[in-house]
Amino acid sequence: MNKRTKWFEEARFGMFIHWGVYSSIGRGEWVRSIERISDEDYQPYVEGFQPASFDASSMAKLAKKAGIQYAVFTAKHHDGYCLFDTEYTTYSSAHYCNRDFVREYVEAFRNEGIRIGLYYSLIDWHHPDFPHYGDRNHPDRDNEAFKNYRYDFSNYLKYMHGQIRELCTNYGKIDILWTDYSYDDLKCEAWHGTELVNMIRSLQPDIILNNRLEASGEGFGSLITSHPNITSGDFVSPEQIIPPQGIRNENGEHVPWEACITMNRNWGYHKEDHDYKSSLLLIRKLVECVSKDGNMILNIGPDGDGNIPEEAVKRLTDIGRWMEKNSESIYACGYSGLPKPENGRITRKKNTYYYHIFEPDVGAIPLYGVQKNQIDEIRLLYDGKIIDVSDTWITNNYPDIVFADLGSSPDLPDPIDTVIKVTCKGD
Ligand code: GLC
Repeated sequence: MNKRTKWFEEARFGMFIHWGVYSSIGRGEWVRSIERISDEDYQPYVEGFQPASFDASSMAKLAKKAGIQYAVFTAKHHDGYCLFDTEYTTYSSAHYCNRDFVREYVEAFRNEGIRIGLYYSLIDWHHPDFPHYGDRNHPDRDNEAFKNYRYDFSNYLKYMHGQIRELCTNYGKIDILWTDYSYDDLKCEAWHGTELVNMIRSLQPDIILNNRLEASGEGFGSLITSHPNITSGDFVSPEQIIPPQGIRNENGEHVPWEACITMNRNWGYHKEDHDYKSSLLLIRKLVECVSKDGNMILNIGPDGDGNIPEEAVKRLTDIGRWMEKNSESIYACGYSGLPKPENGRITRKKNTYYYHIFEPDVGAIPLYGVQKNQIDEIRLLYDGKIIDVSDTWITNNYPDIVFADLGSSPDLPDPIDTVIKVTCKGD
């Protein structure tokens, strides 16, 4: 395991926080692009963004209870509005709200012992020197008034590099920088990526970077090749999907990855989007990521006033209740080396296998892959109870399979995911 990403691959479970001026409109973080909202039509929202309810401390406590180990907060999203105090622009919460929300987030989450990540959009629909007409995403991409608009991209690069320097200098230790995202010709050295990464790593030697200086949600970039570039990043960031086989490079070696997943369908707050995934599904998807040697970062999108939607609070609370009893089957766990069983998934930590049972059975529970003579102890994480290996005429017909006898009830102790911890002898 790469020294730099060791903590990350042990943390396994992160929280994404998408929040900004777009949250006050309530139609997702791409509203400016989708609805082609001009800079001047967006300005009333910028001035009207005066969030009274944003409370980083209660957000951090909620994250802690949910078992979150690291968080990533949007310091600047594609709309270009900065949630931090920056000398490069007054298009910021420091100017309009007299608040540095990045600092509030950093202090509150660090106070809860949660590692600090910052999201910074490479895309900037407000900056005068970012491509407008003809760009793939810009709100003025097909606005004829901008057809002959002239801009100097080198000015934007100085601005972008300068702001990332500020974020890597003014807020103490930053554990993750989550840049977003590259597309068409805008990748790698178009961002002056080598110079940027060297600067970041000189200021924050232990920081880990995602792969989006080269790629986007679906692309993986050079990190999965046998010769990664300096701009490759340290982990791959599959979006709204769990890689079916995990992620390996051309040499078949494991590559750190993090699936970024929304609870509903939007990253930024969307007042009409109530399509929330169930707590059961989110817990089982976290288990799936870990069983494939990956992380899951789960998104919340607070509203324009800074309130976290009730549906999101409920899911984080449910996840926390499950993690309270079962987090040892997540943290510092990974791929078991065993085939996926039909009744759930398996995670592993050294000589311990965690069988995640998602569906009950008609009798004893088969624990495929482990041999009876290897077993030191079998225990339920749900209540710590020691579990016997089934020894009846029924299961003895299958001497090569270990069956866990969970007792007479046809129901699993935890219908979401009952974890059976199998500690094996030696390594
Ligand atoms: C995509 C979206 C962006 C979001 C990111 C999160 O890049 O464009 O809005 O912040 O995914 O992964």
